[in-house]
Order: sequence, then C-alpha cells, then structure tokens
Amino acid sequence: MENKTLLQMRGIDKHFGATHALKGIDLTLERGEVLGLIGENGAGKSTIIKILSGAYGMDAGEILIDGVPVNIGNPRASQALGISTIYQELTLFPDLNAVDNILAGREICRDGTGSSLISPLDRQRMRKEARQILTEELGIDIDLTVPVRQLSLAEKQLVEIARSLHSQAQIIIMDEPTEALESQERERLFAITDRMRLSGRAVIYVSHLLDELVKVCDKVMVMRDGANVATQPVSEVSVETIISKMIGRDLGQKYADKTPPSGEVILRANRLGVNGRFDDVSFELQKGEILGFAGLDGAGKQDVVRAIYGVVPFNMGDISVDGKSLTAGSISGAKAAGVGLMPADRKTEGLFLDKSLEWNITIAESTKSRSSSLRLSDLKASAGAYMRSMSIRARSVDQSVGDLSGGNQQKAMLARWLQTKPKVLVLEEPTRGVDIKSKAEIYRQVVDAAAAGTSFIVVSADSPELLGLCHRILVMHSGRVAAELDASTTDAETIAYYSVQTTGEHR
Ligand SMILES: Nc1ncnc2c1ncn2[C@@H]1O[C@H](COP(=O)(O)OP(=O)(O)OP(=O)(O)O)[C@@H](O)[C@H]1O
Ligand SMILES: [Mg+2]
Repeated sequence: MENKTLLQMRGIDKHFGATHALKGIDLTLERGEVLGLIGENGAGKSTIIKILSGAYGMDAGEILIDGVPVNIGNPRASQALGISTIYQELTLFPDLNAVDNILAGREICRDGTGSSLISPLDRQRMRKEARQILTEELGIDIDLTVPVRQLSLAEKQLVEIARSLHSQAQIIIMDEPTEALESQERERLFAITDRMRLSGRAVIYVSHLLDELVKVCDKVMVMRDGANVATQPVSEVSVETIISKMIGRDLGQKYADKTPPSGEVILRANRLGVNGRFDDVSFELQKGEILGFAGLDGAGKQDVVRAIYGVVPFNMGDISVDGKSLTAGSISGAKAAGVGLMPADRKTEGLFLDKSLEWNITIAESTKSRSSSLRLSDLKASAGAYMRSMSIRARSVDQSVGDLSGGNQQKAMLARWLQTKPKVLVLEEPTRGVDIKSKAEIYRQVVDAAAAGTSFIVVSADSPELLGLCHRILVMHSGRVAAELDASTTDAETIAYYSVQTTGEHR
C-alpha cells in the first residue's frame, strides 16, 4: 500500500540576507488532504512554497516525499517529484491553445514518440487527452481551440491545473488562487480541490480569506514571523481562534467608524458613457465621502473609474471635479484636477519593484518637491510613518519593494497614493492579498483620510468590504447603474441581487 504521508518538511530554515524568513518549519501533508497555510503578510507562506517548487534553495532542513529524502534543486526537479505549483502570475503560453498548454513538454506524435522532429504531432490524441482531464477529472468545459490569452483568468487557472494533472502531479500547490476570482469561479475551484482529495492527491492552499479556508481545507497551519505556531484540523478551530493565533491577539474592530461626508460635491459624473462598455452613468461624490462600486466582472465598474482617470476615453456625458470639466482620455488632466487611481494589478501597473520602499512611497511627492522646499529627510520620515501605521513588514524604508511579500507590496502602493493626498482617490481592490489585520489598518487609513477631506471611490469584488468601508454603494449591471444603496442599511444579498438581477444573460 502507498504511504499515507506524502510530504514531510522538517526543520526548514531560510534567510534572505538579514531577514530570517523561515525558522525551523515542520510540515506534514497526507494523501487526500487539503492543507491551508495562513499567516500575516510576510509570515513566510510563499517562501515555503517557493522552496517546494524549486525556486528557492533552503539553508537547513530536509524534505521527504513518500518517506524518501529528496533534493529539490530547481523547478524541473520539483515537477519530476510530482509537485505542481499554480502561481498567481500564470505561466501559460498565451498564444497557444489549451491543448498545447496542457500537454506542453509532453506532446504526443503520430509514431507514438514525443519528438515532433521525426513525426508530426497526433493532434487528435492530444485533444482527446486534454479534454479527458478537463471534463472527467475537473468537470469543466472550456474552448480548446482559441489561444489561452482569450480565456478568462479563471479558465486560465483551470488550464494550469489541468496541466499539472496531466504531468501526474501528486502535490498541487495554490498560492492565493481565488483572490482575483468571482464567486461562481471560486465554487468551481473548491469542487476541484474536493476531486483532488478524493483521488488521493494532496493540496497546499494559501489564502487570506479565512472563511474560505475553513470551508476548503482539512487542516490549517498558522504561521507567524517565519515559524509554525499551530497546526490543527479545521473541525477543531474557528475563524476567531485562527486570527488570534495568527496575530497574537484578538482582531478587535475590523472597520473603523466613518465620519459623514461634508455635503459639498467634489466630483460629478453626468450621463457618462463609453461605447460598448457602459452607458448613462450619473452620480455625485461628496468631499470626504467613500463611494463603493459593486458588480460582476464585466459589468462596467472598472471601466467607469478608468474613464474618470482618463485611461479609457469617454464619449458620452461629462465629468467635473470642483466644477471644472475633465478632458476625455486625459490622465494628465485627471491628475492635474486632483484625481488619483490605484490599479488592481500592482505588479504591472503600480510599483517599481527594483526601487526602495521609500522611493516607491514618496516618488509622487519628490517629483513635485523639486520646486518646493521638501527635503529628502522629510520624505524618509514620511515613508517611515506610513510603514509603521500600515505595518508594512520590511527591514527598513531602504529595502527594495520587489523583496517584500505580496501583501506588503500592496500596502506600499496604497501608502504611496495616500501620500499624494489627491482630492479624489480611486482604489481598485484595495485589500487584495492583504492579511486580515492589515485590512483593518488599511480601512482605518482610508476612513481617516476621508475625514480629513479626501474623497474615495472604491471598486471591489468583496461586498462585505464595501459595506464596512463605504458610505454609499453603486451596483453596476450590464454597463448601467442598477442600484444606489446606503451602505449602513443594505447587505451583501442585496448587492448580489442587483448584480445579477436579469436572468438569461450570457457572460
Ligand atoms: N527574494 C527575496 N529577497 C529578500 N527578502 C525576501 C524575498 N522573498 C521574501 N522575502 C522576505 O521573506 C519574508 C517572508 O516573505 P513571504 O513572501 O514568504 O511572505 P508571505 O507569508 O507569502 O506574505 P504575503 O501574505 O504578503 O504573500 C518577508 O519578510 C519578505 O520580505
Ligand atoms: Mg505570499
């Protein structure tokens, strides 16, 4: 009989220069088990995963698979050992279709070999194998003929999972797989982890969404500061105990108390539209108000804020800030009027990864300050203050942002935008990838900035976040505002209702 224990990590230690990222980690994974990995931003979750996937070496410790010590020197060795990692930044070939991606490196030729130099590819068999994994193993149906770049993020993720199954992976690792997914897509992923469990494989699942973790996992491992502080079956823990183990105390109040907005209108959108994207969107934003935009992906919420910021030119209606109209499609015009936008995709649009934390937080200020009297030491102090108030985990403000953990990068980006003190700040998915304690800190920063006069537009797929953080919520559906809700009197069900109200719509 096969060993029940599939993976053991013993005494794993890892340093990055002066950072002691992993301090003697022990981890055991059984066949048929889904293990949840939880911990604050910077606790060391991704580092464990990168060691397992062969991206990083370790300083000390040993890894056993099926009771046999193994050496995971590089990503290829990791795959050969049956470990497959689904990263957030997907590793598919965008121009190839799903079949070619799933069988990449394991193509089948007509003469039965894997070398297409000698014999042409047996496309029919390749398609059959890909389809078999997708339908029989994963229970899904996606278009196999189009380049995967045309698929949705969720579908791409599924292609990655199918690829790992085709490679006979036994250990599937997912680092924050649902952060960018919608609720139905999440459910589908949960169903897939169930199938993995039933087939005797094992899953390591990293997420900051604790409700989700207790639903999906059999066992949770809580990390704090590079150490494993608890490993327990989920049946024996509550979300509250997980939080207190994770942060060393109770969370306290998650959402800060809001100050009512001033009544003075700062931004006015009048019958705004972009051909083919959204139509007839009108609303007013008051000074000190936090306005939420809800709705499914593709409903238009992201297009509206991008039109306001000038990324997408609007061709109907108008927007004014402080009574002055904005020019369609002009980012510089929006900036000059005092509008800022923090994009959802921090890696490609937001941060300079090779630059320091200080540089990233204060860049916008320092370009302005060339003509003013702001001194570098002031910028450093300001960056340091944000680092403390938002618990950005870094050795100092001089550390490169690229060396920070995912959640800490997100916090650095938000600090930078708050630091610019715009009149209107648009935040897209402000707490994606952020741990629960840091979320509370971010909400406090936003509410404080609003009380001091900044107005916010928050776009988020997380309804509880909109309800807790915002004064008012606009729900978008099919490119139109379907409802305007007072956040203090509505609930997540109502938001969901207006998000999907019409039936029979194909998306
Ligand atoms: N390549 C690197 N160079 C230097 N330091 C690093 C590197 N990768 C990670 N670290 C540091 O190691 C620690 C652990 O980071 P890790 O990415 O494992 O955290 P995490 O638990 O995944 O956090 P998050 O929830 O934010 O994703 C952090 O202090 C981080 O700054
Ligand atoms: Mg991480």
